[in-house]
Amino acid sequence: MKETDQIDMSRLTVKCGTKSSYDIIYKQSFEALPAEVSLLYPDKVRICVITDSNVDPLYSQEVTDKLESISSSVMKYVIPAGEEHKNLDEINKIYRFLIENKFDRKTLLVALGGGVVGDMTGYVAATFLRGVDFVQIPTTLLAQVDSSIGGKTGVDFEGFKNMIGAFKMPVLVYVNLSTLNSLPGRQFVSGFAEVMKSALLKDENFYVWLIDHSYEIRDMDLDTLSEMVYRCDDIKRMIVEKDPYEKKDRALLNLGHTLGHAIEKYYDFKFLHGECVALGCVAAAFISWKKEFLSKEEFYEIRDMFVLFGLPISMDLADTARIVELTKNDKKMASGHVKFILLKKIGKAFINEEVTDEEMSAALDELNFAEGD
Ligand SMILES: NC(=O)c1ccc[n+]([C@@H]2O[C@H](COP(=O)([O-])OP(=O)(O)OC[C@H]3O[C@@H](n4cnc5c(N)ncnc54)[C@H](O)[C@@H]3O)[C@@H](O)[C@H]2O)c1
Ligand SMILES: [Zn+2]
Repeated sequence: MKETDQIDMSRLTVKCGTKSSYDIIYKQSFEALPAEVSLLYPDKVRICVITDSNVDPLYSQEVTDKLESISSSVMKYVIPAGEEHKNLDEINKIYRFLIENKFDRKTLLVALGGGVVGDMTGYVAATFLRGVDFVQIPTTLLAQVDSSIGGKTGVDFEGFKNMIGAFKMPVLVYVNLSTLNSLPGRQFVSGFAEVMKSALLKDENFYVWLIDHSYEIRDMDLDTLSEMVYRCDDIKRMIVEKDPYEKKDRALLNLGHTLGHAIEKYYDFKFLHGECVALGCVAAAFISWKKEFLSKEEFYEIRDMFVLFGLPISMDLADTARIVELTKNDKKMASGHVKFILLKKIGKAFINEEVTDEEMSAALDELNFAEGD
């Protein structure tokens, strides 16, 4: 039994190799932000807050006001919101802004927003003047439980997702749970798919905890969300510390993503990432059942869990051959085999390279939305 109530869940330290680490701080306001930043930069540092056009009117005034107390100057740069702006053209504009405003090597960038802002700011931090420091302030559930941790940064290129990028660790991740209050419900639910994924792949106790706290989670109780995000981040921390550059175990984080990505592409990104990952997880559970790793009861249990949290478990997936084809150019392929992540049980995922096209098709048939379903 994990005695979570004795653990300090207000801070998590992520180690990067033997020499460096960064903290993730869990708060319900921006009050502690200046103190946390000035702990890292006792001498006043120049700051550029990078945000997007949706988050800007909500939080950037408060964040820049707070940071001004500990900085020599704070400037702000706003990216147009949306994945379609996660590209090198927008990165160039950020470089230009930083150069025109004479930001130097000692600059601190602050990513205030969801995964798009975090990935882009991180990429600028990795490359501008051969690297400057950056802080993540993730404001979507997906960014809080996934994209702000682990140091993957980058942009899309000519229709290929995350094709250009770099590993760059933040110096601090500051999670203000209350920012989730303004997040559209569909975005919250979509981010929740990654929470489910983490529980399924690594931690059965956490999975049970999610069921026990489903009411509080859907009710947006911030103390519950804080524990949920902490526990989820702790799972990602364990995995990325062991395998920071995705040579082996980090692939486990792709549970639900092989077919999830294919479905995302099949629908030309009409559905949110988490919605497709939910389908991908149910498909992975189905294949795990058919390969006799999971029991039938466990498969149905997992499927129902996604329903409980408002995630889709079926869709029109009639062209299974096309979707299976789309798994082939997934970056996660190992020498021609799709590296599929399956479940041995709830809380234990493993890599399997023997999933056939027929098994994937059968899983898609199971999820295919039938008239009158
Ligand atoms: N680096 C990684 O390891 C990693 C992991 C997973 C996903 N990603 C990337 O993350 C991106 C998706 O992230 P996302 O889902 O956060 O998308 P996003 O950044 O586009 O945010 C979703 C929407 O919510 C808005 N928003 C953000 N915070 C808000 C708030 N508090 N209140 C109201 N609106 C808010 C945004 O403006 C946007 O319209 C993708 O580009 C994906 O490739 C990266
Ligand atoms: Zn994902």
